[in-house]
Amino acid sequence: MYRISRRRKRGGRPNVKSLWLACMAVLMLVAAAMDSPPDRDRIPTAAREEIKAVELEIDRIEDETLNRAQSSTLDRFQQITRLGKLIFHDRELSVNRNESCSFCHMPETGFTGPVSALNQTTSAYPGSVRTRFSGRS
Ligand code: HEC
Repeated sequence: MYRISRRRKRGGRPNVKSLWLACMAVLMLVAAAMDSPPDRDRIPTAAREEIKAVELEIDRIEDETLNRAQSSTLDRFQQITRLGKLIFHDRELSVNRNESCSFCHMPETGFTGPVSALNQTTSAYPGSVRTRFSGRS
């Protein structure tokens, strides 16, 4: 701006290039301020709350099963079904320790996907790496 006004005083033409650059800079700043953060994990907004609730429920089942497993039983059938349930709801087994089998195969929903917002949109489910989706169920 200083250079522009100085040139004007000396009778020269206004520095069009500087003006142009200044306008572009202002435009870019405005655009950056208006731009919402990128949706990196591609999960529909409506599904987020539901996913949280499902994850809480899975953790609750896992904790409950762990507690039950503390009391020893000699019954072979019970031992095996408890072990299966523990593995099935264990998110520690996934790459990022955030997703159990039941996230896509919930017993309460017939061992299919429990998140209706995902069933209605992507139909596929995000994996442990949340940018990658499974095949369709
Ligand atoms: C990200 C979601 C997802 C997770 C997590 C997941 N699955 Fe699956 N699973 C699927 C999909 C989708 C199919 C169907 C694939 C197809 O038919 O092409 C499937 C298919 C299956 C099948 C075959 C079912 C059939 O009727 O043919 C079994 C068994 C299975 N999964 C077990 C598991 C187990 C055990 C785990 C955990 C170790 C697991 N899945 C984790 C999405 C998932």
